[in-house]
Amino acid sequence: MHNGFIQLYFPDADAIRAELSEGLLAQHARTSPKYLYDALGSTLFEAICKVPEYYPTRTEAAIFDQYLSEIARSIGRGSTVIDLGAGNCHKASRLFSALQPVEYVPVDISVEFLRDAVNALRQRFPPIRMTGIGMDFSASLDLPDDVRREKRLFFYPGSSIGNFSPDEAATFLARIRDACRNDGGLLIGVDLVKDKAILDAAYDDSLGVTSAFNLNLLLHLNMLLGANFDPRDWRHRAYFNQQESRIEMHLEACRDIEVRWPQGRRRFAEGERIHTECSYKYTPDDFLHLLERAGFGTVRTWTDERGWFLVCHARAV
Ligand code: AVJ
Repeated sequence: MHNGFIQLYFPDADAIRAELSEGLLAQHARTSPKYLYDALGSTLFEAICKVPEYYPTRTEAAIFDQYLSEIARSIGRGSTVIDLGAGNCHKASRLFSALQPVEYVPVDISVEFLRDAVNALRQRFPPIRMTGIGMDFSASLDLPDDVRREKRLFFYPGSSIGNFSPDEAATFLARIRDACRNDGGLLIGVDLVKDKAILDAAYDDSLGVTSAFNLNLLLHLNMLLGANFDPRDWRHRAYFNQQESRIEMHLEACRDIEVRWPQGRRRFAEGERIHTECSYKYTPDDFLHLLERAGFGTVRTWTDERGWFLVCHARAV
């Protein structure tokens, strides 16, 4: 099938409730960062990308702008671009003129969001075959047979890799490596370790947009679980943990609270937290080592003048 959509993801409400209950009842309560992205959460994340303190999106875009022709030369023409977490397809589409891919395969868990974006893109780039795929690529990278195997370029921008621990990231990158032949590769953006004050501010901005993004998780949990969280009882906490080289995002109870949902309930003492996200930061050397561990060969890298963000093209050889 050419120019189609393939839905391979069907959310399982019972499995989601079981996973959420388990996390909330754990000694240190936690939730997966994927639950930050309901419709409002996705809109709030788009707003985060525009606040002055959140530098990653802007810095990555500037690197792509500045080095686009070099990056395109490193990759070569005629690839099949597989965009992991494509969303509105904006980042990939900016590479098309330079990259001249033959096929574009945006992958996202919400194909409904993709559909409009891809239809608009087809009009602008008629020669590129496009197939949107609704799938949870964190669970599997088994792409449908109609996605060409030759010259696959996996595109994973925005430092989304930071949500994985380094070990999980190595495993995930190895799966990408296995989904490529020797003529394939990976174009990935990674946020780098930097001054703690800059990192702290990027995840605790003065307008409170990141705070709203984090607190919105509670409304999403009310929806998914039938829980009775009141966002007014909780506060946003986010800071760089230098030991672990990661941003940690938490929701902290402002007072003693009891939360109930059909499958369970839990008391949270004042000051107790739910851990909602990790965002790992790398040094260039550590990230190159990770790519090597995952089985990638030659790597080219580009960074900004301040050395805040890294773009890598890793070959699957
Ligand atoms: C989408 C995972 C790359 O870690 O910077 C932004 C998510 N969380 N502000 C990041 C996020 C709070 C973002 N990633």
